[in-house]
Order: sequence, then structure tokens, then C-alpha cells
Amino acid sequence: MYFPTFRPRRLRRNANLRRMIRETILSVDHLIYPLFAAPGKSVRNPVGSMPGVFQMSVDCLLEEVESVNDLRIPAILLFGLPREKDDQGSEAYASDGVVQIAVRTIKDKFPDLIVVTDVCLCEYTSHGHCGVVHGQEVDNDATLDLLARVALSHARAGADVVAPSDMMDGRVRSIRQALDQCGFEQVSILSYAAKYCSAFYGPFREAAESAPRFGDRRAYQMDTANAREALREVSLDIEEGADIVMVKPALAYLDIIRRVKDTFNRPVAAYNVSGEYSMIKAAAERGWLDERQVMMETLTAIRRAGADLILSYFAKDAARLLQE
Ligand code: PBG
Repeated sequence: MYFPTFRPRRLRRNANLRRMIRETILSVDHLIYPLFAAPGKSVRNPVGSMPGVFQMSVDCLLEEVESVNDLRIPAILLFGLPREKDDQGSEAYASDGVVQIAVRTIKDKFPDLIVVTDVCLCEYTSHGHCGVVHGQEVDNDATLDLLARVALSHARAGADVVAPSDMMDGRVRSIRQALDQCGFEQVSILSYAAKYCSAFYGPFREAAESAPRFGDRRAYQMDTANAREALREVSLDIEEGADIVMVKPALAYLDIIRRVKDTFNRPVAAYNVSGEYSMIKAAAERGWLDERQVMMETLTAIRRAGADLILSYFAKDAARLLQE
């Protein structure tokens, strides 16, 4: 046999050829942009560890959302910074809480934009844990009612999708029941189904002021070393009524994204988290990496691993690049 019958380089010879055989498409349709709603007026506080990310009061958020909408990004994810924290995280479900006001204002002006709300307590509790604390423990079942109240308050404000990120057992079911009982059967649940206990959330905790005051989240978020357990988590959330399942973080867990995609017939989301963003920003600031290229390579890799949707602080930058 004469050498070589197949030369893979033949199909890499020019940009059009490469475009024709490209297997993975990254489009603005797949992106969700996270935003941090703060109380007050004209507030636009930069988050030190996340260049380009701000805590914003509703008036500034509206301007931001306008640019997101102009870039044709289909959805945003909202986090809230409450005026005050307490041990139950009561502002998380207040009808005039910072997220509820933001949702109402945004949906009023941009009715077609998909508004996803993060459902959790850690930004709202004085101790910084994602549930009700008894002694040193987060009480799973006592937290479920509160999470359902949070989700319901977001639905009442007009959220299209609620996204529980707390990792309590059974929370998707209690949220689904509460929504259905109150006539919100059209509100979807995007569950943070396989959410790992990750140090890559570090910069987010500065942005959301949500670091736990004692201990850590290992008793409720997943152990980094586990993959089969992620499949169990995802199957539970699907049984309980999740419409979209998320793997988080993304980059160190691409294998999990792929397994979830191959195992279940639900849309899969991946969260390109704060630490993944900050690492690229920091290296680029030093001139050590080409920010735009590394960003696009990263987002494409997350898509290639199987993510239908990507939550990313790069969403606007990527959308701009994709438009060019
Ligand atoms: C809240 C929540 C966290 C993130 C999203 N929702 C932080 C955490 O669990 O401590 C992380 C997002 C990011 O790092 O970008 N529970």
C-alpha cells in the first residue's frame, strides 16, 4: 500500500474548507449573561477580581440589559445583593427585594428577553450558607420551603426561568410544586444539578458578597473527585422536574458535561464560572495570553463537550466577536 491514502491536512488548507467541516458551532444563541443587582441608584461598583463585571443598581442594570439585548444575547441570569442579611435570608423572597424589583423592571422594558434568576440563600443569609443553619449544619428540609418561596417570588416578579443553586436534596420538586400550585406551570427550572464544591467560585463570592462566615460548602456541594454521583444528581433533578440541567464549573468538568449530555435527553447548561473568567483576564492583563482567542477556544470547548447553553461573564465579549 502506498503512503498515505488519507491526509487529514487536505481539509485544513483554507478557511472556507475548515468552516465547511467544523463540527462545533458557537453562536450567541447559546449564551446567558450573569448580572449582579444591587440596591441604590447610579451604583456601578467594579468587582476587583472580575475586570468588566459590576454590581449595578436597577437603573444601571437597565442600560446594561439594553446592550445585552442589542447584542442579541437571548438571556440573562440575575443575582441579588440585599440591603440587609439575616439568618433566614428573608430578603431572598421579599416581594420588594432587589432581584424582584430588577426582574419586574427588566421584563417591563424587555418582555422578550429571557430572565433567569438564581435561587439560593447564600447572598442573603448573615452566615453566608445556602440554607437554614442549625448549629454548624445546613438543615436540608427546613431550607426547602424557603427556596420554594424564593422561586415563587421570582416567578411573581416575572422571571421566565428559576435556577436553584443551593444543592439541597429535593429542592427541584418543592420548587416545581410551589410554582404549579400558584399557576406558574410555564416557569421553567434550570437546576444547578451537578454543582461541585469548587475553589473556582472565589471571585464570585466577592461579587455576590456570599462567602460563608464559618466552614465551607462541602456538606452540600459535590466532591470534585466524583463523576457517577453527578449522574445520580442529574437523574434526581430530572425526576423532580428540572427542564434544563447544569454542570458547574465547566472547564475542570468537561468530562461530566459530556457524560450528562450522552446519558440524558434534556438540554445541558454549563457554567463558565468566575474563577475561569478571572484566570483568563489576569493572564491577559499581563500579556501572557491572547484574551479573545483563549475566550473563544474555551467557549467552543465547552460546546464541544456537549453544553447546549453556556453561562459566562464573557457572553458580551463573545457576542461582539461573533458579530464581526
Ligand atoms: C450561589 C452561587 C454560587 C455561584 C453561582 N451561584 C457560589 C457558590 O456556590 O458559592 C458561583 C458562580 C461563579 O463562580 O461564577 N450558591
